[in-house]
Amino acid sequence: MILLDGRKTSADIKEEIALEVREFKNNGNKTPHLAAIIVGNNGASITYVNAKVKACERVGFESTLIRLSEKTTEEDLLNEIAILNVDNDVDGFIVQLPLPKHIDEQKILMAINPDKDVDGFHPTNVGKMALNIPTFISATPFGILELLDRYNVETSGKHVVVLGRSHIVGSPMSILLSQKRKVGNATVTMCHSRTKNLKEITLQADIIIAAIGIPEFIKADMVKEHVTVIDVGITRVADSSKKNGFRLVGDVAFDEVAKKADFITPVPGGVGPMTIAMLLKNTLLACKRKSQN
Ligand code: GUN
Repeated sequence: MILLDGRKTSADIKEEIALEVREFKNNGNKTPHLAAIIVGNNGASITYVNAKVKACERVGFESTLIRLSEKTTEEDLLNEIAILNVDNDVDGFIVQLPLPKHIDEQKILMAINPDKDVDGFHPTNVGKMALNIPTFISATPFGILELLDRYNVETSGKHVVVLGRSHIVGSPMSILLSQKRKVGNATVTMCHSRTKNLKEITLQADIIIAAIGIPEFIKADMVKEHVTVIDVGITRVADSSKKNGFRLVGDVAFDEVAKKADFITPVPGGVGPMTIAMLLKNTLLACKRKSQN
């Protein structure tokens, strides 16, 4: 079994980005700048956004964190987006999800300038991705492609089973892996909450991508020998033995599934750190694109 080490791979990518940024700046270009908006006090979201901002510092980017109260109106948030859309110094920005219930997520994502949409969530960028036209690929699917690539996991002709149809992970993942691309050319089955005979399907999978948010849902009897498992789940489960009162659990029962797997991602330290590295990659791309205009 080989552990798909997202922590190490993400550190490698960040080092590569840091080198590229240094060279970019030495050539007289501006410092790449990522901004992030977070609304409310969701503990996990705050942790993620702080990690994104900290990662910017490490690779030599500028970063701006905009924290808005839980009570922020949709109009106020749209105003903040309008400002970032035209701020010439900001190359890319994200609005951390989920948003409070009184804010229409789709409306917010559609308000982001697609050229600065480094999350790749705007319909223009989702459409380009689906058509295999170069654009920002969302950080989580992009990170999974990169992890599979760097560990030379063969996807061509393989049966990939994606669990979960979210706009952020499951849906783009199923599209990307079926496309004609370096990490792609797979036969993809997309499963979701209405799928019948799930175990029958997962048992046929060469590669499983679990993104359903149910802790330890995938058990050893659901996978075949030599499977590759990508665990996108990251649920906080109460644990009084931990200082912060919780531990992070993936969608896969790691210990038992790992015994049958050729490749598997840990949680934490698998997909999570990769998403941050890929967000930085997208921000550098946004900055470079802008400097070419
Ligand atoms: N919430 C969970 N994942 C993401 C992500 O990749 N981007 C944003 N903006 N919010 C998220």
